[in-house]
Amino acid sequence: MSAAWTALESHHAAIANLRMADEFANDSKRATNFSLDAAGLFLDYSKNRITTETKSLLIALAREHGLEARRNAMFAGEHINTTENRAVMHVALRAGVGRGARRFSVDGKDVVPEVKRVLEHMQRFSHQVRDGVWKGYTGSAITDIVNIGIGGSDLGPLMVCEALRTYIPQGLNVHFVSNVDGAALDCVLSSVDAETTLFIVASKTFTTQETLTNATSARSWFLENGGTHADVAKHFVAVSTNAAAVAKFGIDTANMFEFWDWVGGRYSLWSAIGLSIAIAIGMDAFEELLAGANEMDEHFATAPLEKNMPALLALVGVWNVNFLGATSQCVAPYAQDLHRLPAYLQQLEMESNGKSVDRDGKPLTMASCPVIWGEPGTNGQHAFFQLLHQGTSTIPVDFIAALHADSEHELDASHHRLLLANCFAQSEALMVGKSAEQVRAELVAQRMSEAEIAALTPHKVFSGNRPSNTLLMSELTPKSLGALIALYEHKVFVQGVIWNVNSFDQWGVELGKQLAKTIDGELKLGVVSGAHDGSTVALMRRALGK
Ligand code: F6P
Repeated sequence: MSAAWTALESHHAAIANLRMADEFANDSKRATNFSLDAAGLFLDYSKNRITTETKSLLIALAREHGLEARRNAMFAGEHINTTENRAVMHVALRAGVGRGARRFSVDGKDVVPEVKRVLEHMQRFSHQVRDGVWKGYTGSAITDIVNIGIGGSDLGPLMVCEALRTYIPQGLNVHFVSNVDGAALDCVLSSVDAETTLFIVASKTFTTQETLTNATSARSWFLENGGTHADVAKHFVAVSTNAAAVAKFGIDTANMFEFWDWVGGRYSLWSAIGLSIAIAIGMDAFEELLAGANEMDEHFATAPLEKNMPALLALVGVWNVNFLGATSQCVAPYAQDLHRLPAYLQQLEMESNGKSVDRDGKPLTMASCPVIWGEPGTNGQHAFFQLLHQGTSTIPVDFIAALHADSEHELDASHHRLLLANCFAQSEALMVGKSAEQVRAELVAQRMSEAEIAALTPHKVFSGNRPSNTLLMSELTPKSLGALIALYEHKVFVQGVIWNVNSFDQWGVELGKQLAKTIDGELKLGVVSGAHDGSTVALMRRALGK
């Protein structure tokens, strides 16, 4: 263990009994000292079991792990994804709209002109579709976009389109099909018309079984519903890094939007993978999304660690996982339109840092990524918040809220006021808790008997002292959303540096893919080979009715 890690362990032992409520009572500046603004976002991390010393030690840990140098290496286009020998340059995708002087080169080549060229392609195409210039095979305008992709080729675009649904014009419908379960595709196809539907087949590799299966079925449906082979070009476009596979599938590469191997799948919504977003919300709004992320990138690249939002969010997370023993992290957006954010963050964080060997392949000696999960508030309050308040484990929560509702679609100010009140109340309740004395006083006031009070009190006590962060933005806009997503991307980067893992590969998804291919082949032939374990053999036999 490094010197900073050991110092943090001793510090943890020294402040084991820290009560956040006492810290607030003793320090009127705690909320100010443990909060900051960046790129239009406000982060309050004061409701964590930390002191000024904890913060200094965590920053020392980051420096000891070479965070600044590792961050600079990413921005410089070095091949930091060592197991795939690739640069990690999703930040360059946001530079196409940035006004900064920063250069983004991969292997000595400035990549920004390429990024801009693809953005222009996306702009032309999205305008044509939105303006009704791009016609279907009967001459009708496109009314429905169906994005077929999975993982990073689905979750990001889906999450953003949901978050910014108020930017989608009436009459334009955007659908996402990811699951290979035919029910997913069927559900969408039964609600659209072949004449007016555009399919975007989104796959970085263009080898993903689920996506190719869904795309093949969608094309068959199109041909069975009035389209001809010659019409496919008007209704199917592709987003990929693999032109050869796109051509083999039968999509004209003139209708292909490209990106590059230095864009990881879960970091790709900013690339042409965001085509469905650009069509849905318009290119101007898509560029605002990029601009918001670019602002957070510049903050991450230049702010000292003491005032660096992604670094601080990440380090507090490391404190909670590695020193307080948290094994999961709840994300609770108090914004219904962010309802897919937890699912998106699950891939971003868990596929990036869900690793158990370090960058040199040696077993980790500390815990890495916690389980990420969550649901929008206030719904979560009436489902799983019971466990957050009174359960046996400590589960840190990220509360995320916009101070103002979308001005055009605001129903009634009371909705938003109540939403915010609940958001703030939950973090307060988690931190302050309710003591046995307070419970007792309440029950006495209700004129309960001593016996009833004694029986009920333990059930009504809240231990409190449970950590949370609160992230606020003025309004949920493309710009603030861009900054929010980039914040979490960089948080993941920083945590990857501390845990010393490669945050940009995902070998752990491969074994299941390999085995599924073998099993699918056997199920297709109706045979079960002896190459499987007893349980799998029995399951396969059952599926085959044998
Ligand atoms: O299953 C893992 C994964 O490789 C993700 O990393 C990726 O986002 C997803 O599959 C989809 O991959 P592709 O865009 O190549 O179809």
